Amino acid sequence: MSTQTETIRRLTVPQIAARKGGEPIVSLTSYHAHTATIVDRHADFILVGDSLGMVMHGMETTVGVPLDLMIMHGKAVVRGTKRALIVVDMPFGTYEESPNMAFRNAATIMKETQCQAVKLEGGKRMAETVHFLVERGIPVMAHIGLTPQSSHVMGGFKTQGRDQDTWPLHIEDAKAVADAGAFAIVVEGVVEELADQITAAVDVPTIGIGASKNCDGQILVLEDMLGLNPWVPKFVKKYGNLGEGIEEAVKAYAQEVKSRTFPGEAQVYKNK
Ligand code: KIV
Repeated sequence: MSTQTETIRRLTVPQIAARKGGEPIVSLTSYHAHTATIVDRHADFILVGDSLGMVMHGMETTVGVPLDLMIMHGKAVVRGTKRALIVVDMPFGTYEESPNMAFRNAATIMKETQCQAVKLEGGKRMAETVHFLVERGIPVMAHIGLTPQSSHVMGGFKTQGRDQDTWPLHIEDAKAVADAGAFAIVVEGVVEELADQITAAVDVPTIGIGASKNCDGQILVLEDMLGLNPWVPKFVKKYGNLGEGIEEAVKAYAQEVKSRTFPGEAQVYKNK
């Protein structure tokens, strides 16, 4: 009974889709239960992004992220939240080959994690798959512009649309996935004016990251905006400096242990 009540309180896919042109959509990534609980109080949706491969597991790109890792982190985030819509990324190699393959893996993600939607990268080339999944009950968030899973083809994590001749292709990508039934589109790493044109061209919300303040919502990687990552993309504003905070705390602990001033049992008990 309580589970049912919690499910009902979560934001839904139609509620997010209805925010097109309305109140800006707040979203962040999260990979574990405790940070998700904090983010849940402020975000409309939480993305369990495959960036976790780089942020949490030290990979150089997201290409090596396996499906079971996404499922493990997805489960943790769903457990830690009750209000935000939870979207889990489909990792590289789990959906591109065919709509059938995409359905099998998306269904596994949804059944195992109990998330409400999946995200996949690609525009026009993925439109058939987006349609196939949505028709079969799987809400899809699309992701266009700089698509990190294709970073080897793109020659790195490069801002898209610097050449204005490419703009029609990006706009076509957005329209294709919107027409196919995607309920929202992440627009990553594109020049601002192109992002604005994409937002104007589709009737589903655009979620910007390194794109434009005029997108219908924004997303950031939580560890980037908290100042936990030593390297972050240029466009990221840091809202915290947790990296330094952790360093200070660890240093203080190490000093206390080494100088035998670490609190003994009685003191620890007193602090509780
Ligand atoms: O994997 C991720 O964190 C993402 C966001 C950057 C949008 O896809």
